[in-house]
Amino acid sequence: MASTERILVREETLDPSFLPPKLPHRETELGLLSRRYREALSKGIAFHLLVTGGVGSGKTALVKRLSADLERGGRLGEYPVRATYVNCWRRASDRTVMLDLLRSVGTSLPDRGYSLSEMLDVFEQGVRRAPAHHLVVLDEASALVRQGTKLVYLLSRSREVGLGSISLVLVAVEDLLVYLDPASRSSFGVTHRLSLEPYDREALTGILAARAALALRAGSFDEEILDQIARIATASGDARFALELLANAARAAEDDRAPALAAEHVRRAKGSILPTVSEAQLEELSTNELGVLLALCRSLRRAGGSVPSQKLRATHASLLEEFGATPMSRTTFWRTLKELERDGLVGLETGGEGESSRVAMDELPATVLSGLLEERLGRSRRRKT
Ligand SMILES: Nc1ncnc2c1ncn2[C@@H]1O[C@H](COP(=O)(O)OP(=O)(O)OP(=O)(O)O)[C@@H](O)[C@H]1O
Ligand SMILES: [Mg+2]
Repeated sequence: MASTERILVREETLDPSFLPPKLPHRETELGLLSRRYREALSKGIAFHLLVTGGVGSGKTALVKRLSADLERGGRLGEYPVRATYVNCWRRASDRTVMLDLLRSVGTSLPDRGYSLSEMLDVFEQGVRRAPAHHLVVLDEASALVRQGTKLVYLLSRSREVGLGSISLVLVAVEDLLVYLDPASRSSFGVTHRLSLEPYDREALTGILAARAALALRAGSFDEEILDQIARIATASGDARFALELLANAARAAEDDRAPALAAEHVRRAKGSILPTVSEAQLEELSTNELGVLLALCRSLRRAGGSVPSQKLRATHASLLEEFGATPMSRTTFWRTLKELERDGLVGLETGGEGESSRVAMDELPATVLSGLLEERLGRSRRRKT
């Protein structure tokens, strides 16, 4: 069923730089922050915030969404909100960050010859020319803060500029409080800290569904595929990884001229992003394990992301017959599955009673693995005879 229709109809919406209009599973955090900012800024009081959380937990998306929503929300008290976003990863010095801030208020200074507090004065002049509540977002602030920044202190204590306020948002993977001087630390009291938990499987599925609806042609994906991707990304709770898998799987499906994403495309996508099962690892496996894995590959080629263990056992039994091997007991079969799970080669989902669970394999395209396994099994069979 060759299809010439594109699947990635709006590819740019899967790009890391795309800011989605809605952030499923971060709506509570977004609402809370939005309320706190509105409350403080409408009274003319600055509000400083430290956002932490693991890689891909949505920190950048959250603070960018917050900034954009506040900017669009109109005046708070007397002034509108103006946000400046600086990624500090490559600008890990107060001066380079300050130069970015100056540019954001339409001024510039030569890189040399000015002290930090002189630069801050010029920044405040800029703020006066365009009266607003300034939200200064310093993303990836770890290196900056660890180097003993003075900018955080200066900005969080910035004198009443008379016209509006300056609020600081620090974003980092780790907790930065320990690296701050006591005065700055007190600006980030308990209500001024937000720590994002890694996404769980349900959240990742929701995020994937929202982004797939934006980026992919309707009808080119189903819930099972999104759930398969979410299952793979749950270990890290990283939304970026999940979205990368989605994009790569969609590309793999397009390469195949398939009308829709299939489990095999997801496995191929994973293989292209992460180093997966190596041949050396396969060499380590017992003949029992190889057989069960091969049966799994064969069932998955037909069945999708996972198969019920009962079904797998039936496929395995006929495989053993094909290879002229002795049948395997239920207990041995189950123990072998557990061993494969321990080696990280299969995923087991217990549906209450052990036997009624499902077995998944996300490591490698089943077609590739089948080839490797058939070769291995064939070899060991030849050795025996
Ligand atoms: N709740 C969400 N809804 C929709 N998309 C999301 C959500 N959370 C994260 N994303 C998307 O996942 C990707 C990673 O998120 P983001 O860049 O915000 O993570 P991060 O916590 O800043 O990671 P890092 O520490 O690596 O900078 C982005 O493409 C972002 O748009
Ligand atoms: Mg980020």
